[in-house]
Amino acid sequence: MRKILFSSSEVHPLIKTGGLADVSGSLPTALHLQGHDIRIIMPAYRKCLEQLEKIHPIATLKLDGFHLPIEIFQSTLPGTNVPLLLVHSPQHFDREGGPYSSPTGEDWQDNAARFTLFSRAVAALAMNQAGLNWQPDVLHCSDWQTALTPALIADLPNRPVTVFTIHNLAYQGLFSREIFDALDLPEKLWHSDGLEFYGLLSLIKGGLIYADHITTVSPTYAKEICNYEFGYGLEGLLSLRAKQGRLSGILNGIDNTEWNPKKDRYLTKTYSIKNLRNKTINKASLQQYFGLPEKEDVLLMGIISRLVPQKGIDLTLEAVTKLLESGANIQLVCLGSGEPSYEQDLRILRARYPDKVGVDIGYNEALAHQIEAGSDVFLMPSRFEPCGLNQLYSLRYGTLPIVRNTGGLADTVVDATENNRKNGTATGFKFDQSNAGELEKTISRALDLFQRPRIWRKMMITAMEQNYSWQQSAETYVQLYESL
Ligand code: ADP
Ligand code: GLC
Repeated sequence: MRKILFSSSEVHPLIKTGGLADVSGSLPTALHLQGHDIRIIMPAYRKCLEQLEKIHPIATLKLDGFHLPIEIFQSTLPGTNVPLLLVHSPQHFDREGGPYSSPTGEDWQDNAARFTLFSRAVAALAMNQAGLNWQPDVLHCSDWQTALTPALIADLPNRPVTVFTIHNLAYQGLFSREIFDALDLPEKLWHSDGLEFYGLLSLIKGGLIYADHITTVSPTYAKEICNYEFGYGLEGLLSLRAKQGRLSGILNGIDNTEWNPKKDRYLTKTYSIKNLRNKTINKASLQQYFGLPEKEDVLLMGIISRLVPQKGIDLTLEAVTKLLESGANIQLVCLGSGEPSYEQDLRILRARYPDKVGVDIGYNEALAHQIEAGSDVFLMPSRFEPCGLNQLYSLRYGTLPIVRNTGGLADTVVDATENNRKNGTATGFKFDQSNAGELEKTISRALDLFQRPRIWRKMMITAMEQNYSWQQSAETYVQLYESL
C-alpha cells in the first residue's frame, strides 16, 4: 500500500475541459480500489464548491509570494470514496468560468499566479507541512498547471518521489521573466536547466527537469515528443530523459462505469455485443436530435472534440465537404467548442447541408455519450494525440474510429487492412499523412466496408471486445512508483 498525492487542475465529474479530467477522476479511483492511500488535490473552483455536499476545512496555510493565507478543504470525489483535497483561495479560484479561462473563453490573466499558488500549496502538503500528519510516498503531477511542485521540493530532504505526466506537450505554461519575479520564485530555478526557456518562464519544465520520472499517456507519444515535430524545442531534454530511462509511456484506461453501453444512463437503449440491434435505436435518436433523416443505411459519423488545430477539424471540414459534394451516403454530427473560426465553419457546413450535417456548439456530457452510441464511425484525424479517450470510448461502443496514425491513436486502433480483417484484429481505420485527401480516402474506405454488414459487424465486435479498462494501466503506474 502506497501513500499517493495526485495533483491535477481538472477532475471529472467536478470540472472538465478534456481528457485530463477523465484521467484525474478515474486513475486515482482505480488506485484507491487497489488499496492505495491516494488523495486527489485540486483547486477549489467555484464549480467544485457548488457541487460538493460535504466540505470540511482542515488546514490554513501561508504561502511564500502570496499575502493572504489559503485554506485546505477536504471532501470526497463524488460517486467514490476517494479523498479529495481542495486548495481554497477565493480570489484565485472562486469565480465564474472554466479552470483556465473566463466564461467568454479568454485565458485568465493571472493563470501563472493561480497555478503557482496551487503548486505551492501542494508542495506544503507533499512535505507534510500543513499539519495533516500525512506525508505521501509519491507525488504524481499532471501537465504544466501542477509542474512547479516537483521543482519546489526537489532539494528538500525526506521528500516524496515525484512523477510528472505529460498529457499534452502543446500546453507549457509559458510566461515572462517579470512574472517569475512577481511570483517570488527561487532565483536558483532560473537557468536553462531549470525553468528558463529561451528567456521565458516555462512552468512545464518544473516537471520535465525536476521530477524523478516523466510519463506520458501512450508509448507512441513518448517516442514522438523526442523528435523535432512534436517536441516544441523540448525534444533534446526529453530524449535525454528517455536515454536515462526516466521517460515512459503508459496508455490511459477508460472508466468502465461511466463509459459502458450496457448501462449508460444517457442512451435511448443500452446494448452489448449480444444485442447490437439496440445500437441502431440510438442511431435513430441521434438523427432525430439533429433533425437528420432517420436512415439506417447512411454512414453516420460522429465527432466530439475541443475545436483546436490539434484535432484536425479543418481536415474534416475539407474532406467531408468533398464527400458531400460528390453525393456520398454519409451524415456528420459534431459536438464541440473552441476556436470561433472552426465553430463558424461547422455552422456554415450545417447550413449548406441541413439534412446531412448536425452541429452542436458547446459542452454537453449526455450528448457526448449519445454520439458515441449512435454513430457508426467516430472521426479523430488529429495532427497529434497524446492518448485520446474518444477513440477508446468509440471502440467500447462499437463505433469504429477513423484516426490518424499518431500517438495513442496509433497504439489503440487496428486498421481494417485485408490482412487485419482476415486475422480478426481490425477495429477501425487509420491514415498516415495529415491531409484532407488522405482522410477523404479513408472515409471512403469505411463507406465501402459499411456496405458489407458481415465484415462490419465482425469489426464492431472485435472493437467492443478490446479491454482498455484502468486496471492494467493502474498496475503499471504502481510498478513505476515502486521502482522509484
Ligand atoms: P483532449 O483531452 O485532447 O480534449 P481526449 O480524447 O483525451 O481529448 O478527451 C476528451 C474528453 O472530453 C472526452 O471525454 C470527450 O468526451 C470530452 N469532450 C470534449 N469536448 C466535449 C464537448 N463539447 N462536450 C462534452 N464532452 C466533450
Ligand atoms: C490531453 C491529450 C489527450 C489525452 C488526454 C488525457 O488532453 O490531448 O490525447 O487523451 O490529455 O491524457
